[in-house]
Amino acid sequence: MTIRHLTHRRLATVLALAACAPAVHADNAASNLRPSGRFSVRPVATAATPPMGWNPWNAFHTQVTEAKIMAVAQVLKSTGLADAGYRYVNMDDGWWLKRRADGRIEIRTSMFPSAALPDGGTSFRPYVERLHSMGLKAGLYTDIGRNACSQSWDEHGANLPVGTRQEREIGTYGYQAQDMRLFYGEWGFDYVKVDACGVADFQAEKPFVKDGTYRALGPYMVRNRPDLSEPKVVERLYADLRAAIDAVRPDGDFILSICNWGEVHVTDWGKDYGQMWRTSQDISANWWSMLHNFDSSAGRALYAGPGHWNDPDMLEVGLGEFDADHPVEARAHMSLWAIINAPLVLGADLSKPAPVVLDIIGKRDVIAVNQDPAGNQGVIVARTADTEALVKSMAQAGTKALALVNRSAHPQALSVALARLNLDPAAPATMRDLWTGQERAVERGVISAELAPHETRLLLVRGLPELKNGVYLGEMPARINVAADGRTQISALRFASWVPAQVNASPAGTPLMVGGKRRDNGIGVLSDSRLEVRLDKEFSRFRTVAGANDDTARPLTFRVYGDGKLLFEQAGTQPVEIDVPVRGVDTLELVVEGKDREAGVVLATWADARLMR
Ligand code: GLA
Repeated sequence: MTIRHLTHRRLATVLALAACAPAVHADNAASNLRPSGRFSVRPVATAATPPMGWNPWNAFHTQVTEAKIMAVAQVLKSTGLADAGYRYVNMDDGWWLKRRADGRIEIRTSMFPSAALPDGGTSFRPYVERLHSMGLKAGLYTDIGRNACSQSWDEHGANLPVGTRQEREIGTYGYQAQDMRLFYGEWGFDYVKVDACGVADFQAEKPFVKDGTYRALGPYMVRNRPDLSEPKVVERLYADLRAAIDAVRPDGDFILSICNWGEVHVTDWGKDYGQMWRTSQDISANWWSMLHNFDSSAGRALYAGPGHWNDPDMLEVGLGEFDADHPVEARAHMSLWAIINAPLVLGADLSKPAPVVLDIIGKRDVIAVNQDPAGNQGVIVARTADTEALVKSMAQAGTKALALVNRSAHPQALSVALARLNLDPAAPATMRDLWTGQERAVERGVISAELAPHETRLLLVRGLPELKNGVYLGEMPARINVAADGRTQISALRFASWVPAQVNASPAGTPLMVGGKRRDNGIGVLSDSRLEVRLDKEFSRFRTVAGANDDTARPLTFRVYGDGKLLFEQAGTQPVEIDVPVRGVDTLELVVEGKDREAGVVLATWADARLMR
């Protein structure tokens, strides 16, 4: 496609996409704190809501065939699941035969008979067109290194690439442009999942490298060891891949799913290159694995929004501890993925689905929570060892999805006050159980539930916003971009589990504090950091109390900018009250600067941060 063929609107998107392509993150330099004057998240061309679909990995691993995939595709259509949103029919590891001398990848035609061309070559075009003709989208799988996960983890498995060492190098490393042209261009795929075993598992000491089976690369990523990894190299590889995709699909109509399991802080930078990025290791079909993966995404609301989503991995509903015999767990899993805006990629073999499984994955009211157009990820508002409550602000003012979660194998009672949902406790409110459809009034401003073991109650609560004429920043995480997160090399190593910016919690996961007082609402950040908030000229004032998160008085400087112009600046050791006019402002920026000599960073809080209309 040439620029000549683009409509004005699409041309505008193309130019905007190009202008927004970020350079690989510089270290936490002072320049990062300079206002950008704009909301730097790329304009959304796809994945405006979390992608939904199916992937064969959880059910079939590499033992997949075209027939098995098409059987599931048919079921997605015939059962109405496609209409409910499950449109991406993906593929995972195992499809490739080899890379030819001219660099083109050949498809394993024993798996995908329709890929065999009369001239002896192979193409996925017929397969993709078949899915497209069914109203579905098509997804493929590859790796950011030279080799794939099956080659390191399933050494003697079926369906490994064949041929010489070079022919078995089917990953994108060194072939970014050629592969992206083939996948998104010639073959017409809509979605590619890009794994990372190739940069993690092929170090010189590996027996299969020593014996010459595979070539050494890196490792640039050592699992759970950021200190031994090379984050910049990994980020650069994904950035290059994104650039190669942009060149093939300048309209932005594609999905890049980054799959490096939350390593090398992709959780902080994935948003700049992919529409989704994994936040943890592979899920398995058991309760603790599901919770572990959920936790890896649950505190990261400020990193997600339209066009970019935290990915705790595919759904296990219909499998193992989430199968038809475990409907409580299956509903919990689905509820949790829904409330944190996780991509809903089904993983079970759906060719003969159990009715209860179909009911659960097809529950429209639950899907609607996940697919709400505002794109606000749910935030944690209460937590004990066994329970937690998450609130997701829906597009409709005064409407909140609430998940009451029992993580334990025992019954638990749980209560959440309407105030924790930023709803007026004195005004009438209703709540609807999205699994049973039961609706009732909220009494005395408190929502209480007796939860069965492993139960999650998912409710839609409607009331009156607590702020009559405004909104807390914590209610609009999709409109916040963590532009400079304050992570330093030291803090990244010492505090690897911190989330640099969080709603209603400090980066360390502790309660928000300012001036020695606990604050229920606000954004916890690190110094030095800069948040961009998309106002779209909708508001007239910004108010907050800003300060260090603890009372060991460290000097901090707080700055507020409106469209790049300084609106407020104050330095000191005491909390500062900020109340500035923002009428006509598109992008608000919140900067905090100040160093602690020992830790390198300071925990700071924008408490009760709110925008008034
Ligand atoms: C990795 C990914 C999985 C799957 C396998 C395929 O483990 O995280 O989702 O794609 O590779 O080998």
